[in-house]
Amino acid sequence: MIGIIGGSGFYSFLENFEEIEIETPYGKPSDKIAISKVGGKEVAFIPRHGKKHIYPPHKVPYKANIYALKELGVEKIISTTACGSLKKEIMPGDFVIVDQFIDRTWGREDTFSDIGNVKHTSMAQPYDEQMREIAINVLEELGYRFHKKGTCVVIQGPRFSTLAESRWYSKMGFDVIGMTQYPEVALANELGIKYLNITLVTDYDAGLEDDPDIKPVSHEEVLRVFSENVEKLKKVIIEIIKRI
Ligand code: ADE
Repeated sequence: MIGIIGGSGFYSFLENFEEIEIETPYGKPSDKIAISKVGGKEVAFIPRHGKKHIYPPHKVPYKANIYALKELGVEKIISTTACGSLKKEIMPGDFVIVDQFIDRTWGREDTFSDIGNVKHTSMAQPYDEQMREIAINVLEELGYRFHKKGTCVVIQGPRFSTLAESRWYSKMGFDVIGMTQYPEVALANELGIKYLNITLVTDYDAGLEDDPDIKPVSHEEVLRVFSENVEKLKKVIIEIIKRI
């Protein structure tokens, strides 16, 4: 089974689905999980923030979501996120096949390891290379603007960054900025689930300093740019599922 995690602005995906409610040792997932088939493959879809977007990034039940998908037999996850760009050449509307993250979150439940269940998971390559390659081929064939790799700095949110923070992240060489990839990707790795992220760039974070017309991001802007591109994103995901 393939799991799809929808980010902000991505609340439904499947047709003719059956919805199931799951309770986990870590509480309820963000919402009911929709199960259906795409290209003959079993797929489970969960909207990360809930269908009504009730969970802010720091309150998403990441452990329950990943545990529930594992319980359903999910072996591979395709996650989607809206992110800001930290580089001029990464433009709103572009896709990024993220290959690294930097964790700037705090206080989130970010591991299944506990007393009596000590586990140290390798995190050198947290995104599955085989799935990244499939995604790159699909994006190339569809002719969409995209970047083959990128480092995502994951901030705690829910506020956006100050100009100073944004400058700092850019100077460090990070590519995109989001609020939800951590701890999701790490938890999936802990449970041995292969994880792919497709980022859709929605904004230039704190703006572009050499172009005063490019203003700092707002939540409305993120949702507007995301909804303009969500059909493209769904097309990419369907094509990836068929090739997995
Ligand atoms: N999600 C979309 N745009 C973002 C930004 N600029 N910072 C953090 N998360 C985001």
